Amino acid sequence: MYVCICNAVTENDIGSAVAEGCCSLRELREQLGVGACCGRCTGCARDVLKSSLHALAPHQLSATGAQTMAA
Ligand code: FES
Repeated sequence: MYVCICNAVTENDIGSAVAEGCCSLRELREQLGVGACCGRCTGCARDVLKSSLHALAPHQLSATGAQTMAA
């Protein structure tokens, strides 16, 4: 599914970015351009980011506070 239409960014693109170390909306914007145009995708991108972070390492997130960074 496309998350950001303006920059053709999909859920899979965000999942790959998270797997490579991206852990905030700002980093997603810098790497993929999510939210850099109209900004309508920001809420959905945040939700996908959170899900990807939880799927990647749910135990590490609570230990490092990464959940806060995604919010
Ligand atoms: S839909 Fe993502 S910036 Fe427009």
